[in-house]
Amino acid sequence: MKTLGLQFPVQTLDGQILLPSGTLLDADAIGGLMEQSRSENWPRLPVLEYSTIRKDILYFFTHPPYEIIFSGEKRVNDVLGLMQEVSLPLPLLEILERFREADFYTYRHMLLVFALSALLAREMVEDPEERRHSLRASPTHDVGKIGVPLEVLRKPTTLTPSDRQILRHHVISGFVLAGYYLQDFTLLPVCVARDHHERRDGSGYPLGEAIDDLFLEMVIVADIYDALLSPRPYRPNAYEKRSALEVLTTMAEKGKVRWDVVETLIILNRRRKHPPDGERRVSRERRGAEPAGNSYSLPSRDEERH
Ligand SMILES: [Fe+2]
Ligand SMILES: [Fe+2]
Repeated sequence: MKTLGLQFPVQTLDGQILLPSGTLLDADAIGGLMEQSRSENWPRLPVLEYSTIRKDILYFFTHPPYEIIFSGEKRVNDVLGLMQEVSLPLPLLEILERFREADFYTYRHMLLVFALSALLAREMVEDPEERRHSLRASPTHDVGKIGVPLEVLRKPTTLTPSDRQILRHHVISGFVLAGYYLQDFTLLPVCVARDHHERRDGSGYPLGEAIDDLFLEMVIVADIYDALLSPRPYRPNAYEKRSALEVLTTMAEKGKVRWDVVETLIILNRRRKHPPDGERRVSRERRGAEPAGNSYSLPSRDEERH
């Protein structure tokens, strides 16, 4: 694997520089950070118990565009039960809370990617221990966006090449922050913070290496789906659910994301039509078009900004 380098410094919420720009993320740099983090003893809390998170999630579940996929008492209770088992060290929860105040879109997005990943894991991962493990992958996936200036995160026009460079750096900042606060750089959520913009065909970033990992790829599909469904400052309309699923279907056909995860998402979106396992069939015909009047809404641009 190639060694990543920092193009920008990585800071904690209170402004402490963890690593300066120019640092190579080699074994020495990671070892040094690990040593530094071991002297800390951050309290850990269940994500759902922190601040207004549970209340906010219940609001998102009962309002469009998520009121169908998160409908049915059993489904919702199962998903909440899975999410309830994930705890995070306090500084990572404080970063979530900072997004709630400064950039509600990113806050909402992180919680919904967590919830969608839980729903996908409920369907796709049979072993309860494995399922619990997979759940830890998602709630911190975009934590590195805390280092991206708000004017870039909320920019209403197309990103410039330098904006894009700053935004793309969130996967490296996220890897550093998640590894530091979770005190282990080999954990699933730390790797997911780094790899959630990679693609199966190697067309993603930061490494541009082909991936093949169900737990990572459930987060990737949830990430793209929520980004397409959400109102964004740079396009007047969000995608309809069918159009968003169409974008994902096309990506699966091109070998960029896992077809089985996309297929599960399509089935989950069918209200009160849950065929038993083994009888699931999904049509690959076109499902919809992208929203009208979206001058900046090409999927490739959307893909850049989640
Ligand atoms: Fe994201
Ligand atoms: Fe991201």
